[in-house]
Parts: sequence; structure tokens; C-alpha cells
Amino acid sequence: MKITKICCIGAGYVGGPTMAVIAQKCPHIQVTVVDLNEERIAAWNDENVENIPIYEPGLDKIVAEARGRNLFFSTNVDQAIDEAQIIFISVNTPTKTYGKGKGMAADLKYIELCARQIARVSKSDKIVVEKSTLPVRTAEAIKSILDNTGNGVQFQILSNPEFLAEGTAVTDLLNPDRILIGGDSSEEGQKAIQALVDVYSNWVAKDKILTTNVWSSELSKLTANAFLAQRISSINAMSELCEKTGADVNEVAKAIGMDSRIGSKFLKSSVGFGGSCFQKDILNLVYIAKSYGLNEVADYWEQVIIMNDYQKRRFSNTIVKTLYNTVADKKIAFLGWAFKKDTNDTRESAAIYVADDLINEQANIAVYDPKVSGKKVLADLDYLETRSSEKNKKGIVSFEDPYLACKDAHAIAVLTEWDEFKGYDWKRIYESMQKPAFIFDGRNILNRSEMESIGFIYQGIGS
Ligand code: UDX
Ligand code: ADP
Repeated sequence: MKITKICCIGAGYVGGPTMAVIAQKCPHIQVTVVDLNEERIAAWNDENVENIPIYEPGLDKIVAEARGRNLFFSTNVDQAIDEAQIIFISVNTPTKTYGKGKGMAADLKYIELCARQIARVSKSDKIVVEKSTLPVRTAEAIKSILDNTGNGVQFQILSNPEFLAEGTAVTDLLNPDRILIGGDSSEEGQKAIQALVDVYSNWVAKDKILTTNVWSSELSKLTANAFLAQRISSINAMSELCEKTGADVNEVAKAIGMDSRIGSKFLKSSVGFGGSCFQKDILNLVYIAKSYGLNEVADYWEQVIIMNDYQKRRFSNTIVKTLYNTVADKKIAFLGWAFKKDTNDTRESAAIYVADDLINEQANIAVYDPKVSGKKVLADLDYLETRSSEKNKKGIVSFEDPYLACKDAHAIAVLTEWDEFKGYDWKRIYESMQKPAFIFDGRNILNRSEMESIGFIYQGIGS
């Protein structure tokens, strides 16, 4: 089947960048990204590409090149579904906040709504691709909805999980380690797989395109995220031991990372991992394991989350303890709010939880993040529902100038590893602060001896 029209439901962090790259690399395919959120679609269509709703290095250029040529953003979901041969589902699958599996299972209501809509609208055969990370065997549910509520047309369901990381989405999409496509073993299933392989082959080498059965593909995505998060929790567990024993976690990470069996990536100790994927996917994995009665498997993976929560709390406790056991009415400057550098995404960012702890201790938080607005910072705190929005507004203020954020502060906490922080005039910052001036480097990005020579009392993670 020659693919000429693709639609993607969900113009978020996954759908937007992925479809922009497909459109750029496949000028012969019309790619339409749809979303219910009118504001988001309007931002994707903003004349000034700098205003697209997602900040990813290099994305604006790709959007500028393809938009209006073969890349379209629209709220007309029905029309896009009707016209497309391949429909990607890229909607959000947050952790359930109600009912059975609350706090653990993935909430599939948005997926189900998409499936029902696809079934209702489709008048010709479609390939439906799961792009969102989903519990293993979700394809079965989608298929059942499509086949039972559809108009008698044929649907093939593929699983094609996205492995891009935020902040490097464009390079990850252009040069993926692998593309994974899971599909049915039937002849029709194999044809559908081939159609999607042909799309990716426009820029990805054949040997990097892996095809599997649907369940392996679905489970591989959860497994990959669980393994990556586990490495971070493992090194974070060692960080506390390093602090007690005089070892330096950066040196330990380097030493073990040179073992080619271990490898050097994802061994950076930090205030804790954030992002929309790791915690959600592990909780989901734990829930699935439990639902099959695999309690030891569930407990094993749950420990990765327990360690990560502990690491965030440990960081705020260290700040309070070091500031003579009280931060009440003290100004603490946060450098960074995003869950990692080069993104404006704040979902599950460690900064939110550290701020919440410190506001409980009546500290005044001053935030500077190069890409996150003050409005978003407040919304993130309000979302926790620890206290009223009015109280949050009193406890936290955002600044557009890092030097103003740090002025008169008792301490600085580095929460995100933005490169620009390294280039600051740290002497000037030191001089503007209360003394003694503390730095809690939750990302180990600043140079201890340089900071100490300026006069700061420096505390990194794991050293
Ligand atoms: C992750 C996976 O990497 C990606 O493949 C998947 O598709 C989605 O989930 P993402 O959440 O965007 O991507 O970012 P990632 O780079 O994995 O970082 C996640 C969190 O771990 C961040 O808070 C980051 O700061 C933290 N981290 C990462 C560490 O603390 N130490 C490390 O060594 C690496
Ligand atoms: P991700 O990080 O997985 O891309 P996001 O939350 O950034 O998640 O994006 C998911 C998008 O999917 C949101 O913009 C949301 O409005 C959209 N969405 C959810 N359900 C539907 C639906 N039924 N039809 C169209 N768009 C939807």
C-alpha cells in the first residue's frame, strides 16, 4: 500500500515533533496533526514559529520548512481521520487518579475515546498505530472497540512506541537508535507493518527498523523506560552512601561507566528523575505485574520509584538541615524548574516537590527558569493541592532575571542542568546574597572548588 496521507491524534510532546519530522522527511506524504485543544493547535499554526507550543532545539526550523507544504495542524479530527490511511494515536495516558488502579494504572479513557471516534468516522480500511506508551495488551482493547463499533471496514493495529527524549527530540527522531514496530502475524498485519516500515525507510536505515509481535513492542517500551529509570535510582542510591563514606559519586559513575558491559549513559546522580514517562510507566508496570499476581516482580520495580521519591525528599531535608534547621522566612533561589534542560516541560519535575517541602517549612522560593513561565510554576504547585493557591502565591515568586532571583537569597538550589547556569558571574551572585551563602547543586553541574574559592558553601549530590 502506498501511503500518501497520515493523521496523528494528539499534538503534544510526542505527536508534534514526531509528525513534523515525518513530514520533513516524506514530502510526498500529507501529515495532519489534530487535537481537541484549540489553543494548542493555534500555537502550532502561529505565523511566528518561535511560538509553537513545544520548545525543542531545532523543531522550529523543521516546522517552518514543512508546515503548509505537507504538514498541517487542525482541530478537525473527523476529517483528518476520514482522509488518512495511517492514524497515529498520540494522546496522553496519565496515571489514573480515580477508581481501580488509582495512582498506578494508566488512564486509558483518552485512548478509548480516540478508538471510538476512529471507528465512527472511518469509511475505508485504516492502519491504527499506538504511539503513546500503553500497557501491554492495549491493542487488544483498541481492536475490540474498532471491530465492534466500526462501519465494517478493516482495521490493523500496530504498536510503534516513541523513544525520543525531550530536549533532544529532533536529533532522536532524525537518528533513532531503533524504530520498533509490532503487528499481527497475519498477512494483513504484515502488510500494515510493511506500510509503516516504508514510511520510516525514507530516512532510517533498514537494519534499525525492528519488527515484532504487538505484545513485545508494547512491553519493550515499558521495559526500556524502567531500565533507564532504574539506572538513575541505582546511582542515586549510591550517592547517599558516597556522602557518608567520602567517596564521590561522579568518580564512581565514571569508573563503572567505563566498563563496556555497564556503559556510561544514564549514570548521572541527581535530585531525582522527572518527566512524564519514567514514573508513570513504572507504576503502570507494577500494576500490570500485580494484576497477574507477580508480587515480587511488582515490588522489585516499585523500589525504583520509592528511591526516586526518597532522593527528592532527601534533597529538601539537606537544605533545611544545612541552613541551621530552619528555612522559615529565608529566601531560597531555584535555578531551573523544568524536569531537565532544553525543554519547557515540567511534568513530575523534582523542583515541584522540593519547592513544596520548602514552602511547608515557610521558606520563600524565588524561581528562575529560562523556558518556564511563572504561571506554569504556580500551576504545578497548585496541582499538588497541598495548600491554597493564595498561599502558593505567597510562597513562590518567579523572576525573569537569574541575578534578581538570587539577590538576597540565603541559598541557591540548582534543580535543572541548564547549560547557561555554568556561565553566570558567580562572584556577582555571591556578593548579592546573604552570608553564609549556600549552593545546593542538585545536578552536579557547578565546579566545587571554583564555588568554594568564591566563598560559597557548596553541597553537591553524592560528594
Ligand atoms: C524518557 C526516555 O529517555 C525516552 O526514551 C522515552 O521515550 C521517554 O522517557 P525523557 O523523560 O524525555 O525521556 O527524558 P530523559 O532524558 O530520559 O530524562 C528523564 C529524567 O531523568 C530527567 O529528569 C533527567 O534529568 C533525569 N536523569 C537522566 C538523571 O537524573 N540522570 C541521568 O543520568 C539521566
Ligand atoms: P504526550 O507527552 O504523550 O505527547 P501531551 O499531553 O503533551 O502528551 O499531548 C497529548 C495531546 O492529546 C493533548 O494536547 C490532548 O489535548 C490531546 N488529546 C487527548 N485526547 C484527544 C482526542 N480524543 N482527540 C484529539 N486530541 C486529544
